Amino acid sequence: MVTGGAGFIGSHTAVSLVAAGFEPIIVDNFSNSEHKILNGLEEILGRRLTCHEADCNDADAMAQIFAAEKPAGIIHFAASKAVGESVQKPLLYYRNNLNSLMVFLELMPRHNVRSLVLSTTCTVYGQPEHLPVTEATPRLPASSPYGNTKAMGEDIIRDCVASQMPIKAISLRYFNPIGAHSSAIIGELPRGVPANLVPYLLQVAAGKRESLTIHGNDYNTPDGTAIRDYIHVIDLAEAHVSALQLLGSKNADSFYDIFNIGTGTGASVLDLINTFEQVTGITLPYMLGPRRPGDIEQIYADVTKATEGLNWKTKRSLAEALDDAWRWQQTL
Ligand code: UD1
Repeated sequence: MVTGGAGFIGSHTAVSLVAAGFEPIIVDNFSNSEHKILNGLEEILGRRLTCHEADCNDADAMAQIFAAEKPAGIIHFAASKAVGESVQKPLLYYRNNLNSLMVFLELMPRHNVRSLVLSTTCTVYGQPEHLPVTEATPRLPASSPYGNTKAMGEDIIRDCVASQMPIKAISLRYFNPIGAHSSAIIGELPRGVPANLVPYLLQVAAGKRESLTIHGNDYNTPDGTAIRDYIHVIDLAEAHVSALQLLGSKNADSFYDIFNIGTGTGASVLDLINTFEQVTGITLPYMLGPRRPGDIEQIYADVTKATEGLNWKTKRSLAEALDDAWRWQQTL
């Protein structure tokens, strides 16, 4: 069962799940996704996936889906994810991101569903003292309600597993997912003005926005711009398949672990712009602006634990991710 399966990461994970022999059942309320992504999935897969249009906070609806579909496991993507909006509407974020998780944690034992994979984020590390960050790097107090819901989600699962609930779970701390399916049939569909770098950059390249503003070039980094770990969404999708397979192989009644999912390499905003220009031949209009409040200077993952524990590694480069994203953007 893939909640948020019509969303950016969820839809790509559905494709990777099918490739690995799973049968994804999508649950999505389309609050921040489009039905046309289901058509895209059908085009890629050659058949229509089952999709339930429902809200994960609706415990009765979820119980019905559990009873009807008898899922082997859940990958819970469905969540609200706009940092700025979460500051304005904290309760929306606590409800959407945590109530839904508790709905599943209560339903799972009742329906004998054992495996759960939760999306969390490298935001839980704040600005770490040492780079790259391992899973043992201390979490810092969240700088937004969104970040807080992700840290609290991890803790809720940890406490449930510690109480001997019969649940096997993995939290995946994503770094910055970008890219699209190589067919350019599915990809990210931001609503309104994109807040994230790559969706904004793509709209500038497509002529939909005038110019990209680099938020800060006075950071203590080689070129002064902030550094992140940008991961191709398909590599990220494949980490979910590996996580589900690991959970399936565990004989223990209760299990919980956390993995960083990134590439292990940092790229600055200027690195990303330069790579985009090289790959596409487009000259991107950009200007330098002040730092964006709340942004950290740099972060990238140590992925040793995921490489060894999940038997997973990234296969796609930054250039490939930007090329795929650009070909997707041109279909919009
Ligand atoms: C953001 C979220 C994070 C979430 C992640 C999902 C914040 C503070 N954090 O991370 O919680 O998990 O998205 O991918 O929003 N940039 C520009 N110009 C732009 C847009 C961005 O220079 O127009 C810069 C930012 O300052 C940053 C980098 O690009 O240095 C990446 O920004 P973004 O794509 O928004 O991701 P994060 O802020 O890292």
